[in-house]
Amino acid sequence: MSEPADRRYGPATLPRARGPLSAAVVEALRLPPHDLPADLGVDLDPADPITDEDLQLTLFLCYELHYRGWLGVDESWEWQPTLLALRARCERVFEAALRRLVGAPSVPAAGVAAGLAELVAADDGPSLAATLQRRADLTQFREFVVHRSVYHLREADPHSWALPRLGGPAKAALVEIQTDEYGNGRLDRMHAELFRHTLDRLGLDTTYGAHVDVAPAVTLATNNLMSLFGLHRRLRGALLGHLAAFEMTSSLPNRRYGNGLRRLGFDEVATRFYDEHVEADAVHEQIAAHDLCGGLVRVEPALAADVLFGAAAGLAVDRLFAAHLLDSWDAGRSSLRTPAPPALPPKVSLVALPAVAPPAPSALV
Ligand SMILES: [Fe+2]
Ligand SMILES: [Fe+2]
Repeated sequence: MSEPADRRYGPATLPRARGPLSAAVVEALRLPPHDLPADLGVDLDPADPITDEDLQLTLFLCYELHYRGWLGVDESWEWQPTLLALRARCERVFEAALRRLVGAPSVPAAGVAAGLAELVAADDGPSLAATLQRRADLTQFREFVVHRSVYHLREADPHSWALPRLGGPAKAALVEIQTDEYGNGRLDRMHAELFRHTLDRLGLDTTYGAHVDVAPAVTLATNNLMSLFGLHRRLRGALLGHLAAFEMTSSLPNRRYGNGLRRLGFDEVATRFYDEHVEADAVHEQIAAHDLCGGLVRVEPALAADVLFGAAAGLAVDRLFAAHLLDSWDAGRSSLRTPAPPALPPKVSLVALPAVAPPAPSALV
């Protein structure tokens, strides 16, 4: 259990427990791997699994062992059988809630790409992006960035789980998308690294996992959803559908996020992450719907409904996330578990960004 000399890329420190189940897991993870009580989590039945703090944090604790791990936690916990059994119990509850939320998808005769387009067109969620563009104050914008940091600091990683599970056209399409996400192999262009600059410009901690403790269940659920799909081969169709919905609903909101930051007086280093996604995701959405999901279903037609389930679940949980932020702000509350900390001075240790031209004024909505 060695600790890295440079902790900015993880592992994160263990978060604080949010209930009896996550408390038992946090406590266990501090010790060498051992069997958990056999009855832990067997009567799990939260009223709303998607917004249940204890359940979502427990899932997040388990999943993170497959990403960067947790600081000071023995890496052998990743495959500890009784912890995996507990995770499976939590996953059954979470997946059942997702399936109740979106119902059974029907695949249109026109095919899976048309089905994805229908889901995206019918997505009538609250416009968080419009609020961030036009009205959000600096405190609210910083909150939004804190929520999203849980994902963006490991941007693209959950969907990479699909790579060894695919062959043929879907694999080629996924590699094309992921190559962009990972900056074509250049650290200074990796999306996760671009996001660290946004955090830094907003005076927020750029360390991997720094904001997990203040992220509420619904934010963890947006991440756990991807990990659930990513870590189960049987859900590979849902994982690709999730990625497609992500890419198909990204370009315009990212333009708005960038414009919101510009309205608040931030420079192009702060907006680069969002600006980068305006054009990249306009391309990615075509690849994702037609080459990735279409390619998968041409090879494995039985996965069409799963693709649409993954897309619908992603859109639905994101609607809950947006509603949580907007409802909190409307009520004059923080959307975080505890309000964002005061601004830190910008770090000097970030990799320098390559020079690029800012988006043309005509592209700014
Ligand atoms: Fe990205
Ligand atoms: Fe993308």
